[in-house]
Amino acid sequence: MTDLAELERDLTRAIAGAADERTLEELRVAALGKKGTIAELLKTLGSMSPEERKINGARFNGLRDSIADAIATRKRQLESAGLDERLQAERVDVTLPAPEIPRGTIHPVSHVRDEIIAILADLDFKVAEGPDIETDDYNFTRLNIPPEHPARQMHDTFYMKPQADGSRTLLRTHTSPVQVRTMLMQKPPIRVIAPGRTYRRDSDATHSPMFHQVEGLVIDEETHLGHLKWVLEEFCKAFFEVPQLKMRLRPSYFPFTEPSVEVDIQCDRSGGQIRFGEGKGWMEIAGSGMVHPRVLELCGIDPKRYQGYAFGFGIDRLAMLKYGIPDLRPFFESDLRWLKHYGFAALDIPALHEGLSR
Ligand code: PHE
Repeated sequence: MTDLAELERDLTRAIAGAADERTLEELRVAALGKKGTIAELLKTLGSMSPEERKINGARFNGLRDSIADAIATRKRQLESAGLDERLQAERVDVTLPAPEIPRGTIHPVSHVRDEIIAILADLDFKVAEGPDIETDDYNFTRLNIPPEHPARQMHDTFYMKPQADGSRTLLRTHTSPVQVRTMLMQKPPIRVIAPGRTYRRDSDATHSPMFHQVEGLVIDEETHLGHLKWVLEEFCKAFFEVPQLKMRLRPSYFPFTEPSVEVDIQCDRSGGQIRFGEGKGWMEIAGSGMVHPRVLELCGIDPKRYQGYAFGFGIDRLAMLKYGIPDLRPFFESDLRWLKHYGFAALDIPALHEGLSR
């Protein structure tokens, strides 16, 4: 009969010396498997006398248990060695500089919009909103631009397909319809700005079919043109971060303001760049004026009691001026190199107390 002590010694030694989990599994099958050494031993019990069977049964089972234990112990050792090895190999030195990862930037239009909101919020304006797809009534008629008015041609409007009743919606050509929406919804005093997208059929270095404006509207019982001028000046000084700046108010015409003025900022276009505060050029940045009494009336406000001013800025234009961006078209081309160059870090949120642009 097999010498059990010797068998146990040989098996235990082989198990302890198993170099990996696969070898260990082979040993387990050879010893404890259905046809393994120990199973074969247990089979011999059948042909033994009851006394022999009692003694050998206990020994064989003891052997089986001790081999099973040895295998389990070795298995744990191999597993924890494997883990140690991985921990060693996949070690991370957290004190090393972080690797360069591609990072997104905040688009100049978004950044400048936030700068504008920060400045005007500080001058006590609240933000109002309206939809990009507007009714003809809000975009034109209630702004004192009735059908057939020549000013409609100047807007190069994108119209939607006419509806069954003949009415047409359109892509708003300016943010001024938000004036109408605000006056219809709110009682004076009103003091709002409305930043947003606007659309016109126009495309060159300084015009894009989709562009951005900020509307301003103030309505109360005593606001006059002097207040408008002061707000525009304060705004421009804060925006361009200068104590003084050359600004020009030019008489103009808008159907919804009377009188109307256009605001120009001095600039220099030489050398393929636009610089602010020098040169002989002017860039128009805003239209404005006192809200036309007819508009107040069409928006449910009594023009005998209330008056106020409105203005509209081009956000894209302000971004070009402030950050020296010569061409408007790449604003909307999603060229990653351009975005990386002109974009802003995600956490540079404009706030007056920190300096707007940093
Ligand atoms: N809505 C005008 C435009 O798009 C700008 C403007 C706004 C003018 C408010 C006067 C008052 O050009």
